[in-house]
Amino acid sequence: MAELRTLQPEDFHHLLTIETESFDSGYSPYFIKMIPVLFGNVSYIALDESEPLGYAAAAIEQGERDRGWIISMAVRPRARGQGLGKKLMEKCLDALEQAGVRRVHLTVAPANKVAIELYSQLGFASSGVMPDYFGPGEHRLLMIKPL
Ligand SMILES: CC(C)(COP(=O)(O)OP(=O)(O)OC[C@H]1O[C@@H](n2cnc3c(N)ncnc32)[C@H](O)[C@@H]1OP(=O)(O)O)[C@@H](O)C(=O)NCCC(=O)NCCS
Repeated sequence: MAELRTLQPEDFHHLLTIETESFDSGYSPYFIKMIPVLFGNVSYIALDESEPLGYAAAAIEQGERDRGWIISMAVRPRARGQGLGKKLMEKCLDALEQAGVRRVHLTVAPANKVAIELYSQLGFASSGVMPDYFGPGEHRLLMIKPL
């Protein structure tokens, strides 16, 4: 049975493990190190004993405190398809709502059907593809959920 708790700075190596297994080119180690420091109050990790299974990171926008973002989401391949991604997202959404957030944004690669299906199930609606969002040819689908 997985334990879900907020992210702590000592989870850095857990986050690196999950990221490495989940993305070909993901966030830099520097940014991963900063995720628990800056966003730990609204971000969650799932652990089985001391083994990391997945995490979801959220953040509250600086200028617009009622707008939140899901900034990362990954479950290790061996733990996928068991509802963990959904549970992690639900914890983040609850924490954002408690913090006064009224709408949540995220972006996802338009070809990432599994993630898009998960976000749709959680009530995120497509707000259109943003061309060249991360550079030439790096399009992203923007999805938004009101809380
Ligand atoms: C996206 C990801 C986090 C999903 O995690 P997960 O723990 O496997 O997801 P869950 O088991 O909670 O599934 C939740 C929903 O996602 C969708 N889903 C999950 N696996 C799926 C699959 N293989 N095919 C289609 N839809 C799928 C379903 O809607 C599912 O709900 P259901 O079980 O009621 O049908 C995981 O696949 C992952 O880490 N992928 C690589 C990293 C990534 O792409 N992150 C998102 C970046 S924006």
